[in-house]
Amino acid sequence: MTVIVRSFAKINLGLCIGARRDDGFHELLTIYQTIGLHDVIRVTIGRGSGIEIQCADPRVPRDESNTCYRIVEKAMASLKAKGRVTIEIEKRLPVQGGLGGASANAVAVLLGLERALKKSLPAQERLRMTAEVGSDLPLFLVGGTILGIGRGEQVYPLEDFPATPCVIVTPEVGISTPKAFAAWDGKLTLPQASDRMIELGRGLSAWLGDSYSGAPFRRGRRENPLLELVRAGIKNDFEQVVFPEYPELSEAKRALERAGAKYASLSGSGSTLYGLFASKDAASAAMTKLRKQGWAAQVTVTLPRREYWKRSFVR
Ligand code: C5P
Repeated sequence: MTVIVRSFAKINLGLCIGARRDDGFHELLTIYQTIGLHDVIRVTIGRGSGIEIQCADPRVPRDESNTCYRIVEKAMASLKAKGRVTIEIEKRLPVQGGLGGASANAVAVLLGLERALKKSLPAQERLRMTAEVGSDLPLFLVGGTILGIGRGEQVYPLEDFPATPCVIVTPEVGISTPKAFAAWDGKLTLPQASDRMIELGRGLSAWLGDSYSGAPFRRGRRENPLLELVRAGIKNDFEQVVFPEYPELSEAKRALERAGAKYASLSGSGSTLYGLFASKDAASAAMTKLRKQGWAAQVTVTLPRREYWKRSFVR
């Protein structure tokens, strides 16, 4: 039996890097948002043993360094299951692009594997296991709009925002996340790091709470709360270390803003940038404009939690 799962990508709506911890990881505060762009994963269990990864993209590893491989090893042991697991990855998302492609693939494999075996792990066990494989796997067990803290692996579902049109620009640059974190080290002292975290936390709380307060002092119709991000002072710290090294990425951000994005940012450590738009038409027009300027641009939409789960399993 083959199970087919869509492995949706994420963007980061703001990402604050805090202190480097004793275990080498950095404290993070971020909001993850799942989007409609995705890879397709096929999981098949056959007779025999072992794990086989198939992917036409040569940049995707087939050995145990692939997050999919590591999650299968763990899940098969924990479920006490036997068989040969074949994983086929149809790669559409950029590799090392800051959209969490490899992490999303691994979670899709886990969900596909459980379905193929007709066995499932307790939810807490899934969260623990995925966090062991990588900091930005657990978010894909939640989907929608998610608060990420700790090293990014502690995830809390936030109330979903309405589906918002989004343009993704993918420059042909692969950025190593550990290297981007290393570049960040030394930029800040510890007290500064926690002060900034607290400040961003306040900005986020104010922004999220604002949806309920009614803000009667504001004139006119309320915008989509997702588009009010700018006012919450949200930004991605990685821009400070990645943009100087790859100036074309800050150019891409400016191009998105000039094309009418209400909010534009680097996603994760990059190299993908995204822009949020007020309407589908505005996003499509921006995509056309950006492509004419030579940028690899695609239109998609943010994926609220219900949509994320409704569309995850193809079969
Ligand atoms: O958890 P993950 O495997 O995605 O992390 C990859 C690398 O990125 C880590 O080994 C670490 O160097 C860096 N990292 C970090 N702080 C985080 C997440 C990742 O320093 N919060």
